Parts: sequence; structure tokens; C-alpha cells
Amino acid sequence: MTDRALRLGMLGAGTIAGIHARNLDQIPEAELVAVADIDSARAHDLADSRKAAVVSGLDELLSCGLDALIVCLPPFATAGVVARIANADVHLYAEKPVGLSIEAALHDLDAVRKSGVVAASGYMWRSSPLVHRARTLLGSRAVGLIQGTVITAAPPPVWWRDKSLSGGALVESGTHIIDLMRLFGGDARRVTYVGARNLLEPAGCAVEDVAAATIEFASGGVGSFGLSCATHGGRWSIDVVARDLHLHLNFFPEAMSGHCDGSAISHIAEPISNIVPHGFSGAASWYASLRKFITAARAADPGAVGASFEEGVRTLALTLAFEKSLAAGGMRVDVARVG
Ligand SMILES: NC(=O)c1ccc[n+]([C@@H]2O[C@H](COP(=O)([O-])OP(=O)(O)OC[C@H]3O[C@@H](n4cnc5c(N)ncnc54)[C@H](O)[C@@H]3O)[C@@H](O)[C@H]2O)c1
Repeated sequence: MTDRALRLGMLGAGTIAGIHARNLDQIPEAELVAVADIDSARAHDLADSRKAAVVSGLDELLSCGLDALIVCLPPFATAGVVARIANADVHLYAEKPVGLSIEAALHDLDAVRKSGVVAASGYMWRSSPLVHRARTLLGSRAVGLIQGTVITAAPPPVWWRDKSLSGGALVESGTHIIDLMRLFGGDARRVTYVGARNLLEPAGCAVEDVAAATIEFASGGVGSFGLSCATHGGRWSIDVVARDLHLHLNFFPEAMSGHCDGSAISHIAEPISNIVPHGFSGAASWYASLRKFITAARAADPGAVGASFEEGVRTLALTLAFEKSLAAGGMRVDVARVG
């Protein structure tokens, strides 16, 4: 346990790094001391006002005497990065998805396990008070049905529309809700997945923009998932159905409704004024997830993070199984086991 502020570095200084940096400004137990981005103007935007150093890349970050690193790279740039950080005995918070190939992710996971560092993944909704309440209400009931929905806009980065760089809409974006389906439903055994490109402008776009999937959970429960990434506004939600229970969790803004053992459930997360984006209730989970990581890293307690890197690898294995089914014309595909 350290009682001084954690010395943090940031690798990648784009959109999500900006959100994390502004939330870090509210957490006195950590200070941002170094930033690296291949676009040095972006690194300076993040670093200068915080008196953090701008450095050339991961090697230099690892020679700054950091306690922890937040990895905010696009998926195509992540291979081997987590293993290098763990091998340097630095705690890490890796944005989702945790890679594009299961082999690379397992290599990273192996290094994390051997080093014993605190390793989190950016599945921030695992830190949502709403999700905690839903899990408490579910208790030991077996889940019968889980329905996940992502209806959203395509994110702005150019790399996102190139499936070879982002992994596609499900691996890159839908993964948040797929991760929650795993959280509530447990391990998945088999999946199917079909998708099409028919809403986004085809020029420069190689991701499926509408998709539908099914999941068979090892517990015997079943799940379905629908995705569209070509509208504004939209919905990120999950429905959990078990004996005498139906919970509907919506994440933009965070709210839960439903019933449990005959009683109506209604819960709306209040916006918290000092976290980013200000006044937006969904932002509470970004803050909570980061705060948990900092507490876990200061205590050197890998089990205290909101979403572990290992859970991120398991979710990647599931999303890649969907992609395998898509490539096989929607056939049923087994999900690779992560030991
Ligand atoms: N948890 C969440 O809710 C959430 C939200 C947004 C993004 N993300 C994830 O965060 C990651 C980044 O997304 P973003 O929207 O911030 O992307 P972005 O394109 O805005 O930022 C990525 C940054 O990484 C830099 N970069 C690329 N390759 C690099 C390299 N090799 N070394 C150093 N810097 C490099 C780019 O110059 C850019 O500034 C993605 O994996 C995305 O899925 C997570």
C-alpha cells in the first residue's frame, strides 16, 4: 500500500484519454505525470495544462518511474503493449477491446498473471451502481433470457470504419453490452451471428452496421443481441429475465426498471456534477471504474478492480466467436475457452 499519489502515464491521447484525464483531475490519489501519442499535438493538449511530460512512446513511458499506465490506443495498435507494461511491473488499465486476436490477448494475459500487477480493462459499466443493484436483485437465480441492444451512431475515428483496424462494430462497440451479458449470464458456450452493411455510406466503411446474434450460455440460459451503428441518439441496454425477475437496464442515461418478486423496480442514476462529461449520468461509470483502479493499484490488490483484464480477454473471445460465425454464414460456433 502506498500513501502517496500514484504516478500515472497515458498511452494514446485521443477521445477516451481526454475523459480519463479530466476525471483524474478530480482524484487526488493519482497524478498524470507523462503522456505519449504518435500525434504529439494531442499529447501536448492533454499534458501541458497538467504539467505532465510528453514523451515519445511506450519505452520512454516505462522509464519515467510510473506506478501505472492507462492504455487508450485504438485496437489495431495494442498487440503486445499490455505484456510489455506488465513485464515492467507497472499496473495497467487497458481500454476495451483488449486486442484484435485471441492469441495476442492470451500472451498479454500470461504476462499479467506472471507479474501479479493490477490489470483492469475499460468495461466501465461493471462499476455502475445500477449493475451492482441488478446483480444483488438477481442473487443466485439462474438467468433464463438475456437481451442486449446497441443502437447508436458510428464513432468519429476514421480507423473505426475499417474492420481490419477496429475489429468491427461488435468487437469494438457492441463489446460493452456483450460483456454485461457475460457478467449476468456466465460463460457462453455457442453463438450465432449475422450482419449486413446497409445503413452507413459504403465509401471507406468496412464494418457491418446492422447485426443480430444469439448466445447459448453454459448455464442453460439463452441470449440475443441486436446492433445498429448508423443512428443518432439510440440505446445501450440489457434485459435480464429469471424466475420472478425482469430487469431492464438502460445506460444512456443510466436507469433501471422492471420487477422482482412481485415488486416494481425503478432506479435512475443521478448526474454527478464534478465528473466528465459534466451532468451526464452515464459518466459516473467511467469515473467509478477509474477510481476503483487507482484504489486497487495503490493497495496492489488485483482483485479490487471493476473489470479485470482477464474478463476483458474472455469478452474478446466471445466477440471473436461471433465474428467466426459471421464468416461462416451464421453457423453455430463454439466459444474458445480462456483457461
Ligand atoms: N470505455 C469506453 O467507453 C470507451 C469510449 C471510447 C473509446 N474507447 C476505447 O478507447 C480506445 C481509443 O479510442 P478513442 O476514441 O480515444 O480513439 P482516438 O482515435 O480518439 O484516440 C486514439 C489515440 O491513439 C493515438 N495512437 C494511435 N496509435 C498509437 C501508437 N502506436 N502509439 C501512441 N499513440 C497512438 C492516436 O494518435 C490517437 O490520438 C479504443 O479501443 C476505444 O474502443 C473506450
